[in-house]
Amino acid sequence: MHVAVMGAGYVGLVTAGGLADLGLMVTSADINQERIQRLGEGKVPIFEPGLEELVRRNTQAGRLSFSADIQTTVRNSLVIFVAVGTNGGQNGEADLSQVWSVADSIADCMEDYKVIVTKSTVPVGTAAQLRERITSRLNGLLNSMWFPIRNFLGKARRSKISFTLTASSLEAPLAGPWGS
Ligand SMILES: NC(=O)c1ccc[n+]([C@@H]2O[C@H](COP(=O)([O-])OP(=O)(O)OC[C@H]3O[C@@H](n4cnc5c(N)ncnc54)[C@H](O)[C@@H]3O)[C@@H](O)[C@H]2O)c1
Repeated sequence: MHVAVMGAGYVGLVTAGGLADLGLMVTSADINQERIQRLGEGKVPIFEPGLEELVRRNTQAGRLSFSADIQTTVRNSLVIFVAVGTNGGQNGEADLSQVWSVADSIADCMEDYKVIVTKSTVPVGTAAQLRERITSRLNGLLNSMWFPIRNFLGKARRSKISFTLTASSLEAPLAGPWGS
């Protein structure tokens, strides 16, 4: 099973590294080409204890790769985590423009069943809106999930290891090991 994590910021990178360390094949994707190039050279732009080593170990093992080619990443992945930024909205509200941008990228090149997992901090109901936005543009199968965010500064890497247990889904059935 191939997994994509959209957004190679703090949350996306920790998520991608944690999933790869669980043994999954992961592509960490971002529209910031410079960031992707630097990550490919082993340069981690975020300070999180253990993250650089986690990224290096999984990159060398061939489980973690980086890409700015969003369409190819979507096509090759069964599960797509959305980990883009949502800060900066008016009056403290979330700015969902990056989330919708990812949704549109997925819809534009989705050719088969996908599981979309919202990892970004978003208002209640966003997973349903995301599903609606994507399905309104295609006839494919989609199952959307979300994770309660549980990042603590300095402990983010460790807290990711157990997060497979905390996924919730809008509808059943789910694909493969994500079920139940
Ligand atoms: N940083 C934290 O400590 C923290 C903690 C808890 C929750 N969160 C939440 O997690 C989410 C991500 O936060 P972050 O700090 O990692 O954000 P960030 O801004 O560091 O990273 C977001 C990344 O997404 C990329 N991106 C934007 N649009 C994209 C697209 N269409 N396709 C692919 N990549 C795209 C950006 O280039 C950027 O590298 C936010 O919702 C934030 O509120 C963050």
